[in-house]
Amino acid sequence: MSANRRNFIKQGSAALLGAMAIPNLMENIQASPLPNISGEILPTDETYWQLVRQQFPLTKDWAYLNNGTMGPSPYPVIEAVRKGMMDGDQFGNYGGWEATSAKLAKFVGANENEIALTHNVTDGINIVCWGLPLKKGDEVIMTTHEHVGNAFPWLNRQMLHGIVVKVFTPAATAEETLNRIKALYTKKTRAIAVPHIPCTQGQILPVKEICTWAKANNIFAFIDGAHGPGQLEIDLHDMGCDAYASCSHKWMLGPKGTGFLYVRKDFQSTLQTYFVGGGSDNGKWNMASVPIATGTYADSAHRYYGGTQNLGLYKGVDAAIDFIETIGLKNIHNRISYLGKYTQDQLLSLGEKIELITPTEERSRCAVNGFRIKGFDFSKFYGKCADAKVRIRMVQENGLNSVRVSTHIYNNTQEVDRFIELVRKECQ
Ligand SMILES: Cc1ncc(COP(=O)(O)O)c(C=O)c1O
Repeated sequence: MSANRRNFIKQGSAALLGAMAIPNLMENIQASPLPNISGEILPTDETYWQLVRQQFPLTKDWAYLNNGTMGPSPYPVIEAVRKGMMDGDQFGNYGGWEATSAKLAKFVGANENEIALTHNVTDGINIVCWGLPLKKGDEVIMTTHEHVGNAFPWLNRQMLHGIVVKVFTPAATAEETLNRIKALYTKKTRAIAVPHIPCTQGQILPVKEICTWAKANNIFAFIDGAHGPGQLEIDLHDMGCDAYASCSHKWMLGPKGTGFLYVRKDFQSTLQTYFVGGGSDNGKWNMASVPIATGTYADSAHRYYGGTQNLGLYKGVDAAIDFIETIGLKNIHNRISYLGKYTQDQLLSLGEKIELITPTEERSRCAVNGFRIKGFDFSKFYGKCADAKVRIRMVQENGLNSVRVSTHIYNNTQEVDRFIELVRKECQ
């Protein structure tokens, strides 16, 4: 038999198996909807949170304690993606994704004309980093806890354009963190680019105070909001940042590869756009009358992105916001804070071998904890967790050599206990 024919048969059988799997998937997608409960849901109401858990296809074999990397989507989101794609694939409809900007804007306390659709946090960070009018010698304040997605664009500009990156380590209290930031200020400070919540240990930074201080000192304030929306209630106008990059695929539990960037309306004339295309323009130009002027950009944050998007994915983002609102963001925040505190308390009860990196201060913590087990290799511990089907994350960033555990609404205290048992064994 020729190699081509063998390949054809192999591919044909794979296609057949794929087709056989479809009915199963369709059954799952029709999971019964969540009851509509208005008002407060207690963080300890396990009956309700168990119903929430049933909305996720997430396997029960594993304790998934790594929402900080990726938020699994519930069935209604997955179904919305399918339907959104069918709209194009069945009827040839095009466009429609722009409507999601309005929904996202409302969700984070912004106006529709301040939201650019992106594919992840990294896209948004790069738009801001490259668009800021910085020159050689200008200083940018950052933390020692950056994700590569925020660190690398600025370090790249440092290498290519000679800007200067200065760093501080977040402290155990919001007040001391602010003091450390202020201590880095010089006449050359032009921007601060810090995470709302660092990926390393989940500490909530005092972003409102940071933005107020930045404004008073004429400094651009950019917040890497990878871990904000969906974990915390967000009001970007109240926060006062110039720009905020986030995604829907972590705490919002939306489709992977969907992000958004907030750029304050007044700031759009300062933040230069470079990556432009269909939709970035105001529609009032033609090739017979070039060159164009800056007024040719869209009079909104749409100037920062262009081209075709995937309607299905953005229908999924809409559905993710609806899902969150059915439960109530406040209820979600309370539940995940409760699980975060439960995890923290259990870790601390294991004694002095545990070196917690996340603050215990109420305003600085939520659903993520980072820690080390003294004298124990973090990668070996990560391996042991994986063997026991507990998914966490290693934190190698900036030589922290620690582990991170993050919980969302599909988790419960039994899963945390399963993880704590593994930690306890290493502490004995
Ligand atoms: C704080 C922080 N910033 C940026 C990123 C990059 O996000 P994305 O993969 O959506 O670009 C992450 C991802 O984990 C992160 O935790």
